[in-house]
Amino acid sequence: MIRNLIIGSFVSLALFGTAYAEGGDAGAGKAKAEGCSGCHGEDGNAPAPMFPKLAGQHASFLAKQLHDFKSKKRDDPTMTAMAASLSDADIADLSAFYAKQKITPEKGEKSELGEKIYRAGNAAKGTPACSGCHGPSGAGNPNAVYPVLAGQYASYISKTLHDYKSGERANDPNQIMRTIASRLSEDEINAVAEYASGL
Ligand code: HEC
Ligand code: HEC
Repeated sequence: MIRNLIIGSFVSLALFGTAYAEGGDAGAGKAKAEGCSGCHGEDGNAPAPMFPKLAGQHASFLAKQLHDFKSKKRDDPTMTAMAASLSDADIADLSAFYAKQKITPEKGEKSELGEKIYRAGNAAKGTPACSGCHGPSGAGNPNAVYPVLAGQYASYISKTLHDYKSGERANDPNQIMRTIASRLSEDEINAVAEYASGL
């Protein structure tokens, strides 16, 4: 079943991703990012782990998230307000700017459980390997709109997996991440979040 999900979402997302981020101007994005830097940092390396890093993230993924915040498909009180006044061009420019920045690495914790879930999943529960989509080095895939995880704060990855598990975050195509997160235990979430962060 997961196999079908992967193929189905790959096709539809490849179209979305490129359309959303098309024509972005990183130089214009830098100026537009002034109002974002308080939380996400001047260069997209957020100063505190309660805010996600945006540096080095795929433009296609950033643009999709900003469109989803704007339409409330992804509902977050702060970001929905921030995205409300952004035009399509603003979104493309901001996404191009952050994608060009360099993410600062995180140490993470090389736990055996985290590595196992990331690289092999958990066959007994039908959890697929994260690496199948997010890549062996956590670099994601810009065309399929699979986000970068390497270097992201572990606490943000963990919060996000909890949000998918509870359904609080529901903008994942074909419920891919909600299905996967619902099969992760508390220990597995914490371990894989640390592991992916440190890749
Ligand atoms: C007051 C703080 C604040 C400001 C200002 C802010 N953000 Fe955010 N942003 C957040 C928080 C908090 C989240 C995480 C929401 C969640 O937990 O789902 C977030 C998430 C995001 C995400 C999703 C990242 C991911 O990995 O899923 C993007 C993209 C983003 N913000 C872009 C922007 C842009 C562009 C601006 C400026 C126009 C901006 N933000 C301004 C707090 C802020
Ligand atoms: C079938 C492909 C697939 C697999 C397998 C997969 N993911 Fe994802 N993941 C996605 C997609 C697609 C998104 C982006 C959803 C969206 O567009 O909002 C995502 C988003 C995420 C995010 C949100 C990132 C952010 O910055 O907001 C996290 C965290 C995440 N995945 C962690 C994991 C972990 C941990 C595993 C393994 C347990 C995993 N994923 C397995 C496809 C996958």
